[in-house]
Amino acid sequence: MNRAMGEDYATVHRGVYARSANMTLAYEAARRRVAEFMGATNENEIVFVRGATEGINLAANSWGGVNIGEGDRIMLSQLEHHSNIVPWQILAGHIGAHIDVCPLTEDGRIDLDWLEANLTEKHKLVALAHVSNVLGSVLDAKRAAKITHKVGAKLLLDGCQAAPRMALDMGALDCDFYVWSAHKLYGPTGVGVLWARSELLEAMPPWQGGGSMIDRVSFDGTSYAPAPGRFEAGTPMITEVIALHAAIDYVESASGTSGMDSMFAHESALAAELREALRSINSVTLYGPEQSAGIVSFTMEGVHPHDIGTILDEENVAVRAGHHCAQPLMDHYGIPATARASFGLYSDEADITALMRAMDRVQKIFG
Ligand SMILES: Cc1ncc(COP(=O)(O)O)c(C=O)c1O
Repeated sequence: MNRAMGEDYATVHRGVYARSANMTLAYEAARRRVAEFMGATNENEIVFVRGATEGINLAANSWGGVNIGEGDRIMLSQLEHHSNIVPWQILAGHIGAHIDVCPLTEDGRIDLDWLEANLTEKHKLVALAHVSNVLGSVLDAKRAAKITHKVGAKLLLDGCQAAPRMALDMGALDCDFYVWSAHKLYGPTGVGVLWARSELLEAMPPWQGGGSMIDRVSFDGTSYAPAPGRFEAGTPMITEVIALHAAIDYVESASGTSGMDSMFAHESALAAELREALRSINSVTLYGPEQSAGIVSFTMEGVHPHDIGTILDEENVAVRAGHHCAQPLMDHYGIPATARASFGLYSDEADITALMRAMDRVQKIFG
């Protein structure tokens, strides 16, 4: 990023001078790298967006605007992040569509048996988290795709928490849209990815207008560039895209020869260990399935999660405390918030020891 903002700094897709041409090459090389990382066959299926939130808003506005009509239904789940709820609510409000909510299994996974029994031909879109940011539960995405396609609907997967933890393969997952944010993959903020099948992208209208996304502009009418350029209006986040390329290189080299799945194994083993350790405290409640993707949410009787977070912070243990942008999930459990430990590729057992030591302090302070 430093180099891209320093000696290499230039805009893309415009200048004929060498520096701009080189920057364009670097920007487009990042697109190819992302396509390879996601197991996408075609780099033109990769749209750079500001983050997962913008990717979902793009899908809702552009694809949803022409493919979901009055009286149609959109299926979400109880554990979705607000960014995979609110854009669909806004769309549904505008066009008179309905939102249904798939419930969870006892252990906090999206209940695909219920989904299969309740999807109808009125459903045009199913939008689900590949991995829950609160519970760490992993969706059986292939089954979700099969169930969704059986009624002729499209499947959007929110991959924010999966992209940094699991090998992605768009062909094998068989979904229709996939979004994620670079800052979850040890990259910068301000950049994310929307992947969509090329036949869908090609048929989708632009959602933002401006420079770069056009073929020809006149006051008699404007024609648009093909995808993905059609969806990247204006000067893009060039340095962030280049940093995303570097982040993928970093994560893949850190994951070693066994690839991204080793990240999942590493983090889910730590999550299982932490769950076991937290069970030794009677007043702790754990949420989510035993097998989780490196995320452990918990509460402690009589102690607000914010107090847990503050005391843990004093011991240099950083956890998030709050509703995690998943208020409907909090409502489901009848709680305002949880404390959430989230492991990364550099986490190890010393982090669990530190967290448990800090939990001792929580217990002492709150009796
Ligand atoms: C599961 C999930 N979906 C969506 C988002 C939204 O990502 P962003 O804020 O980067 O757009 C997040 C971020 O916390 C997330 O964890």
